[in-house]
Amino acid sequence: MSGNEPGYLRLGVNIDHVATIRNARGGEHPDPVRAAKLSAAAGAEGITAHLREDRRHIRDGDIARLKDEVGLPLNLEMAATPEMLSIALRHQPHACCIVPERREEVTTEGGLDAAGLHNHLKPIVDRLREADIRVSLFINADRRQLEAAVSLGAPVVELHTGAYCEAAFARENAKRDAELARLAKAARDGVALGLEVHAGHGLTFDTVAPVAAMPELAELNIGHFLIGEAIFIGLEASIRKMRAAMDEARGGARATKTKDQA
Ligand code: PXP
Repeated sequence: MSGNEPGYLRLGVNIDHVATIRNARGGEHPDPVRAAKLSAAAGAEGITAHLREDRRHIRDGDIARLKDEVGLPLNLEMAATPEMLSIALRHQPHACCIVPERREEVTTEGGLDAAGLHNHLKPIVDRLREADIRVSLFINADRRQLEAAVSLGAPVVELHTGAYCEAAFARENAKRDAELARLAKAARDGVALGLEVHAGHGLTFDTVAPVAAMPELAELNIGHFLIGEAIFIGLEASIRKMRAAMDEARGGARATKTKDQA
């Protein structure tokens, strides 16, 4: 998912939780690669997958298959560790999104401290860039973190939308609006600093519109809700409905998608 075509918002489908269900029984079903192929058919522009240290989502063998068998760019989420770096360099995904990772967390609970971890991250970002892998940093909507991404040489940031989604879910409207304003400002600041700006985490049909409407954003990465909703309406329908909600929030911007992007 390279480039930053103004007006068009790409959807990256995170297939981790198809793998979570597969792993619950230790077999091969449901296959996250099959879900990725279906995502492509349903209008996704990219596939995102998080190879965690404990392999609770996708496994090593899934990465090669996601790259080779699915005709969409792969965005590999990973912790900034030597093990993950060497896996990324071996598989050469289109993009790597560096995320903070703690073994005991249920999900990625906050953004990466790109500012505080500068010296740790710098060689990893450099190695990925040398390998022509597009580097993204998953950060909170915070000016300091955006500036850290620039000084690290990462071309992309992904803004963590979890706090906004949690406030919306709890009907804490003042907090929800404050979080949205923070995200909107970070999206503007990020683009002004020369970054490509993505967003994701916790987005649902109910929360996606105000985020998708932010014109600076180039991509949303959405997983858990889409996979959960697939239980009720099917994966393809779930993705199509999300895609339509994003397009509607952008004022029908899908119509401006070029032939190359189709
Ligand atoms: N983006 C990043 C960097 C993530 O770590 C995750 C969760 O793995 C997502 C997006 C998707 O979040 P969710 O599964 O809540 O939609």
